[in-house]
Amino acid sequence: MSGRTVLTIVLAAGEGTRMRSSTPKVLHPVAGQSLLAHVLSGAPEGPDTALAVVIGPDQRVVADEATRHRADAETFVQRDRKGTAHAVLAARAALARGADHLIIAFGDTPLISAKTFERLRAALNEGATLAVLGFRAADPSGYGRLLVESGRLVAIREEADATPAEREVRLCNAGVMAFDGRKALSILERIGNANSKGEYYLTDAVTIVRDLGLEALVIETSEDEVRGINTKAQLAEAESVMQARLRNAAMEAGVTLVAPETIFLAADTSFGKDVTIEPFVVIGPGVSIADGAVIHSFSHVVQTSIGKNASVGPYARLRPGTSLGEGARIGNFVETKAATLEAGVKVNHLSYVGDAHVGASSNIGAGTITCNYDGFSKHRTEIGAGAFIGTNSSLVAPVKIGKGAYIGSGSVITRDVPDDAMAVERSQQTNREGGATRYRELKTRDKRPKGG
Ligand code: UD1
Ligand code: MG
Repeated sequence: MSGRTVLTIVLAAGEGTRMRSSTPKVLHPVAGQSLLAHVLSGAPEGPDTALAVVIGPDQRVVADEATRHRADAETFVQRDRKGTAHAVLAARAALARGADHLIIAFGDTPLISAKTFERLRAALNEGATLAVLGFRAADPSGYGRLLVESGRLVAIREEADATPAEREVRLCNAGVMAFDGRKALSILERIGNANSKGEYYLTDAVTIVRDLGLEALVIETSEDEVRGINTKAQLAEAESVMQARLRNAAMEAGVTLVAPETIFLAADTSFGKDVTIEPFVVIGPGVSIADGAVIHSFSHVVQTSIGKNASVGPYARLRPGTSLGEGARIGNFVETKAATLEAGVKVNHLSYVGDAHVGASSNIGAGTITCNYDGFSKHRTEIGAGAFIGTNSSLVAPVKIGKGAYIGSGSVITRDVPDDAMAVERSQQTNREGGATRYRELKTRDKRPKGG
């Protein structure tokens, strides 16, 4: 919308009591991202935009989440929760600065897209004073009903104030609205609280606009886009809608999802070309997967960068801070954390690599553990390029294994190993000739029935 300035106000001061959680409602995640972050990422962004988030008292965490996602977000505290119009006016200072367009969105409606905000703004550009986002609800109960007469929006009736006939209306208020920014403040200030709840309803703006002889209209969208979240069940529904979207977007971008319905992605997952993800994989936030990489079944990946043609799993767990170089291979029952594994590294079986740097082409044998924690603090393990760590080794950090070094199987390494050295830490093996035979004889004699 070139040339037009826009202020977006996101309402997030509600208590969210129906979530039955000590976490503020808008901080609950969908696809690895808070509800609030989803709303903010759809809101107009750029030089002609301003963003305000209205939060409740004692919701510093919500303010922090807002600024983490949008550095330009200004937060306003609504001290008493007296309704949606009252909440908007908590951001009066931002409103008073003026903008061509005012958008109001709810922090608990995360599936809304940037395109929908643009549709509302387009209606303003065509002369409407107020554009309300509506949808046809499968079950309208709880929503405000949009009352339309000869194609014009005349009122929004909250369920508690609706007549039985009005309750039959399926066209509902999604909560998102766009105002002509120059008129918004004077309209909002006229809203009273003469209703069954004694609250200042934002929805009353519609009749005020009509009474002023100005135009209010409805822009319709799908119910899936405007699902409001009040309960954990609705949170799960939103997750499922969002997952379907992310899977489709990934496949459209060329990612092979072998059984998409079993794969969970995050809102910020990024993919290169020709990536394959096998069934039952969970990708958490902060994951990038480069060209040609394959993630095998039952792997769980969070805050990790996966290099070109790398192979992960099956049954791998890549925890935050993992970085896999080109062609690296992580096999079954391997866990990594805060670990950089350079190109061509192999950790094929049953290992833990944490707080570590592993040089290119090193081979980490089955059952290798970086012992990074001494019960008090974490320590680092450095493994040089081309090293070979024998099976079932414990690398007690802090420790450095030199380039090209070789660690004998079963070693407990507590001291640094120089480049190209071979370190073996285990006791001498003893072979007793005929010992097994003698042992068996002894055991069989003991087992003869007594008194037989
Ligand atoms: C609201 C609408 C209803 C619409 C529905 C869509 C009003 C009066 N009603 O009802 O028409 O169909 O959303 O989901 O607007 N909030 C505050 N401060 C307050 C009250 C609310 O910040 O004092 C915030 C909440 O955090 C939430 C949003 O405003 O993000 C909506 O509030 P909520 O109480 O969920 O409104 P609904 O009853 O769902
Ligand atoms: Mg609601």
